[in-house]
Amino acid sequence: MLELVPDDPKYCADVERTLDRAFGPGRHAKTSERVRENGAECLPALSRIALSDGRAIGCCRLWRIAVGEQDALFLGPLAVDPDHQHHGLGADLVRAALNEAAKTHFGAVLLIGAPSFFAPLGFQPAPPAIALPGPVDPKRFMGFALKPGALETLNGAVTAPRGASPASRE
Ligand SMILES: CC(C)(COP(=O)(O)OP(=O)(O)OC[C@H]1O[C@@H](n2cnc3c(N)ncnc32)[C@H](O)[C@@H]1OP(=O)(O)O)[C@@H](O)C(=O)NCCC(=O)NCCS
Repeated sequence: MLELVPDDPKYCADVERTLDRAFGPGRHAKTSERVRENGAECLPALSRIALSDGRAIGCCRLWRIAVGEQDALFLGPLAVDPDHQHHGLGADLVRAALNEAAKTHFGAVLLIGAPSFFAPLGFQPAPPAIALPGPVDPKRFMGFALKPGALETLNGAVTAPRGASPASRE
C-alpha cells in the first residue's frame, strides 16, 4: 500500500537511504544543501513522505527560510527510490506538499531543480533579485506562488528565518 504522510523522525533512516540511492554521491555539495545548512527550519507538518507498506521510499521536504525581510518556503530534497520512479510519485509528493503549504500564511515556495520536471507543476523562474548562498544555474532556480503575486515580491538574500530555534534546525 502506498500513502503520503507528514514527515516524522521515525522515517529518518529510510529517507536517508532513499536520498543516497536517488542522488548518489555528491548530494551534500549542492547549493540547496547550503540553504538548509544556513539555518533553514524544517517543517515536518508540510513535508511529505511516501510510504510503501510502511517504509519510506520518497520524500519532499519544505523548509522555512527568509528572503530579505520576508518569510518563504524552500522545497527539497525531493527524491524517490529508483525502484519506485516513473510512476508519478515524485509529482504527487510535490503536489501534496504544496497543497499543505497553501493552507498556511506562506506566499511562495523556492527551489533549485529541473524546469522540465517542475514547470508542469506550476513552478516558474524565480525573481533574479533573490540571492542564494552559492552558485546556481539561473534556469534551475524556480518559484511557485501559493498566493497570487507573492513570488514577484521576493527579493534579497536567502538566510535563516527570524525566530527559528536552533533545536528546530536540521
Ligand atoms: C526527480 C524524481 C524525484 C522524480 O521521481 P518520479 O517518481 O520518477 O517522478 P514522476 O514519475 O512524477 O515523474 C517522472 C518524470 O520526471 C522527469 N524527471 C525525472 N528526473 C528528472 C531530472 N533529474 N531532471 C528532469 N526531469 C526529470 C522525467 O521526465 C520523468 O519522466 P519519465 O517517467 O517518462 O521518464 C526522481 O527521479 C529522483 O529521485 N531523482 C533523483 C533526485 C533528484 O534529481 N531530485 C529532484 C531534483 S530536480
